[in-house]
Amino acid sequence: MYASRTVLTVVLALSGVATSSPVEVVERQAQKLRIMPLGDSITEITCWRAFVWDQLAEAGLASQVQYVGSQNSNPQRCQPTTANWDQHHEGHSGWLAVDIANNYLTGWLQKTPADIVMFMLGTNDVSRGKTTTEIIAAYTKMVGIMRAANPKMKIIIDLVIPLGTNAKIVAINDAIPAWAKGLNSTESPIVIADCYTGFKTSDLRDGVHPSIAGDRIIASRVGPLLLNFVKQSLGK
Ligand SMILES: *[C@@H]1O[C@H](CO)[C@@H](O)[C@H](O)[C@H]1NC(C)=O
Repeated sequence: MYASRTVLTVVLALSGVATSSPVEVVERQAQKLRIMPLGDSITEITCWRAFVWDQLAEAGLASQVQYVGSQNSNPQRCQPTTANWDQHHEGHSGWLAVDIANNYLTGWLQKTPADIVMFMLGTNDVSRGKTTTEIIAAYTKMVGIMRAANPKMKIIIDLVIPLGTNAKIVAINDAIPAWAKGLNSTESPIVIADCYTGFKTSDLRDGVHPSIAGDRIIASRVGPLLLNFVKQSLGK
């Protein structure tokens, strides 16, 4: 890929093409599709993003994509089938959707721009007494920030996995479908990964975070939607 980019650049130089647009096209073609796993500890200290990478690899897409984010870590020592999986992410243990929306997401997307964002957030907001209205408003703000960063952002929002105190999780999850439909657009589609249905509290390792079985459930719900987005983006 790098070699062909060099050749194209040389050809443009020799033919005296002075405008910047052909070069921009070359740059874009040379770049991998950028996927940001965004969330809290359920994104940071878990293995579902590793298992989703396995799905990308099995589909033969791994060489054309990358995970992006300011973090690059594998705190759970996940061992997916693909040893060299991309460990970049934007998962921040303990963080609230409202704070990420108000103070952080704009900067993160400037630092590591993305084509696709997949996110699960709200668990810590529930633990700290934020209302469903406040959490959904944070989601709306985040979608606005994502689209300001990239008008063609493809967005996967996860239904939140169960918590011990589940009623408020259920309330968020019940609100997500109508919310997502209301903000959906052809240019910047939003799809919902149902990480809640069939996810039992016994699929949590500590009452909050998924066990390996829980990680497999999340990956099985997020992965196919991500593969669809990746294939669309790559024109496959
Ligand atoms: C958003 O629109 C796309 C088609 O562009 C559709 O596949 C998807 O299901 C819609 N999302 C929601 C939440 O309705």
